Amino acid sequence: MQAIVQDVYGSPDVLHLSEIDRPVVGDGDVLIRVRAAGVDPSVWHLTTGRPYVARLTGLGVRRPRSRVRGWDVAGVIEAVAKDVTRFKPGDEVFGSGEGTFAEYASALESRLVAKPADLTFEQAAVIPVSGCTALQALRDAGNVQPGQKVAVIGAGGGVGTYAVQIAKALGAEVTGVCSTTKVDLVRSIGADHVVDYTAEDFADGARHFDLIVETAGKLPFHRVRRCVIPGGALVIVGGDEGGPLIGGLGRLASARLLTPFVGRKLVGLFAQIRTEDLEYLLELVAAGKVTPVMGTKFPLAEAPEAVRRLKTEHSRGKAVIVV
Ligand SMILES: NC(=O)c1ccc[n+]([C@@H]2O[C@H](COP(=O)([O-])OP(=O)(O)OC[C@H]3O[C@@H](n4cnc5c(N)ncnc54)[C@H](OP(=O)(O)O)[C@@H]3O)[C@@H](O)[C@H]2O)c1
Repeated sequence: MQAIVQDVYGSPDVLHLSEIDRPVVGDGDVLIRVRAAGVDPSVWHLTTGRPYVARLTGLGVRRPRSRVRGWDVAGVIEAVAKDVTRFKPGDEVFGSGEGTFAEYASALESRLVAKPADLTFEQAAVIPVSGCTALQALRDAGNVQPGQKVAVIGAGGGVGTYAVQIAKALGAEVTGVCSTTKVDLVRSIGADHVVDYTAEDFADGARHFDLIVETAGKLPFHRVRRCVIPGGALVIVGGDEGGPLIGGLGRLASARLLTPFVGRKLVGLFAQIRTEDLEYLLELVAAGKVTPVMGTKFPLAEAPEAVRRLKTEHSRGKAVIVV
């Protein structure tokens, strides 16, 4: 099969299209004929091996242990292990797999749900990481309540476009923070207010929120947390400003350490793909409350360019590889 592989860590130039064997289906696994794969910043981290500390979590210290990139997936079940009970060959599914920038990818049965017929493979493939992250940031870490004021920083990005829509669906009054080219997009997905951070200082002290979901990581920590009312919450989702050793992980970790001293709940989120959350997101999609915002589509051979653009372009929503 064809797949996007890498043998060393480095810039997206280390990614290349290659002919390799199909994955072996282990216990609890299914083999998916990939139709579409979402492109999110974790792929850039795995490609570059940065932050370096992340390599110690089993990714491979000197070189990547797994050669094929990509997590988010939507496709058709090709084969299943003997112990798989929820799916059979021919079923259309989406969720999280291993090495999804490929014609075939393996995935744990427990990380997949059935794809509704009225959702395209491309739409489904941009839901898992970004949608689950936004949901867990708002509902679980942020405990958002109807009527609360919520700000989403990075509102036009992969996670942000879900966070704006989910916060609205949960009854919040939503302010989206983004750059000029995304103001229309963020308004169109339901934000009540939009702040163009290139024209206004979001953290000038004039605005205060019950909950802020921060996906961009560009504002100094002390400034963004002062925009949260006492007793409110700041959920740190992302940002890579911490340098090559720890990257955004330092910001995530320091959130928890600071909480006892600042009168606000500061949470560094580590999101997980859960089937119950994918089902919950599907309910919001079916109810017309959430629409996946797809960015640029790339054919499989151009996946390296899609990964390169994660850092060089201000993409709208989430890019997708069509296989
Ligand atoms: N903690 C977790 O479990 C978890 C899960 C998923 C993702 N993440 C991380 O979360 C981050 C966001 O992921 P993503 O998929 O949403 O990435 P993304 O699509 O690149 O979105 C990031 C957004 O940040 C915006 N931005 C940049 N500078 C900004 C500023 N100064 N003020 C406000 N917004 C600004 C960009 O929009 P403009 O073009 O408008 O600047 C962009 O839309 C990444 O660092 C990712 O690694 C973490």
